[in-house]
Amino acid sequence: MTTQQQWVDGPFQLIATPKENDSGSHFSVKVAVEMSLAHNILIRGLNAIYLQGPHVKEQKDVEDFAFFCNAWVKTVHHHHSGEENVLFPELEKFTHDENIMNENKEQHHKFLDEMEEFDRYMRESAPTAYKWENVKPKLDAFAEDLVAHLRDEIPTLLDLKKYDSDGIKKVWKKMEDAAKGDIRLPNMFDTILPMVLGCADNKFEGGIHKFPPFPFFMPYLVDYWFANKHRGAWRFCPCDMHGTPKSLDFVQ
Ligand SMILES: [Fe+2]
Ligand SMILES: [Fe+2]
Repeated sequence: MTTQQQWVDGPFQLIATPKENDSGSHFSVKVAVEMSLAHNILIRGLNAIYLQGPHVKEQKDVEDFAFFCNAWVKTVHHHHSGEENVLFPELEKFTHDENIMNENKEQHHKFLDEMEEFDRYMRESAPTAYKWENVKPKLDAFAEDLVAHLRDEIPTLLDLKKYDSDGIKKVWKKMEDAAKGDIRLPNMFDTILPMVLGCADNKFEGGIHKFPPFPFFMPYLVDYWFANKHRGAWRFCPCDMHGTPKSLDFVQ
């Protein structure tokens, strides 16, 4: 990939991880760093849709692009349901503050209807009728609100510094354990994991992060087996399944 090529660090800017990322930090910093990296996966996917959507023409490409868009929406839902079902309630319990994540919860719901409408449109429209001019307004209807939420959540997590670091660590562990259990969910291996791996740039910020924290064999397993089911859709990913950035196939 040459540096001149348009890549998924725009149109929506990626989130720089909090700079207090040293080993002696409060655990809330680690939480905020990991959340920033997870949010960047979603932002890269969204940017990949914006950048490549205008260049999709052939019917097979439209079908694959529609699946890529649906997979991205599923991944956003999966991220937010993990927060609403585990992370936020556990933080409320630990801090004895039932309102502590209210702003984040409200933001989750702010763009939900419009994102669902985009998802429905991409699922139900005939590939032969595909026009980027019709897709873009559906994305524009929620993209800014979604990205604003992805940014705003980071300082909320950094604010947890006023609580006990070990307590925050235990809450995060519960979230990680629940995420491990999620591998049993339908569509996890053939849809969400290829999307996550294909949008996780391992060169980000000089390659200092190891994210997502999957076992080493996971990218191989997904790449050689599970990603095959919808292989055409993963052409729209900005990275290969091992996190190496690649040129966008549909951007000349
Ligand atoms: Fe989040
Ligand atoms: Fe969130």
